[in-house]
Amino acid sequence: MTDEELIGCAAKAKRGAYAPYSHFKVGAALLTRSGKVYLGCNVENAAYGECMCAERVALFKAISEGERDFAAIAIVGDNGLCPPCGSCRQVLSEFCKGDMPVILLGEKLERHALSELLPLSFRLEAEK
Ligand code: THU
Repeated sequence: MTDEELIGCAAKAKRGAYAPYSHFKVGAALLTRSGKVYLGCNVENAAYGECMCAERVALFKAISEGERDFAAIAIVGDNGLCPPCGSCRQVLSEFCKGDMPVILLGEKLERHALSELLPLSFRLEAEK
């Protein structure tokens, strides 16, 4: 799957966003190494602290289906580049390798390694 195709999946996922409070819709598409794509959108709540980001919805869907091997994630927001928030970076780093590409759509497609977005991610054990 090309970066453009995965961004297209994220744009499709964004249509499902429930964002009546921020009015800011986000879509994410997480590609597994086996070629399956898990879509996620942000889901907000009247208790604002309970809002959930698109990236974590996609990741938790995949994890709950038994997936553990990820190839890339694409993220699309409402206006221009939408890099993942700090919490999503940390949660992604639990399951995804540092060199996993995070594909973003600004004026053009951008590709960033997860470790570039979150250097020295927190782990309980030092990496062997
Ligand atoms: N949001 C995401 O879905 N992903 C991010 O990485 C940053 C923020 C959502 C959460 C909230 O519903 C809206 O964008 C505004 O913060």
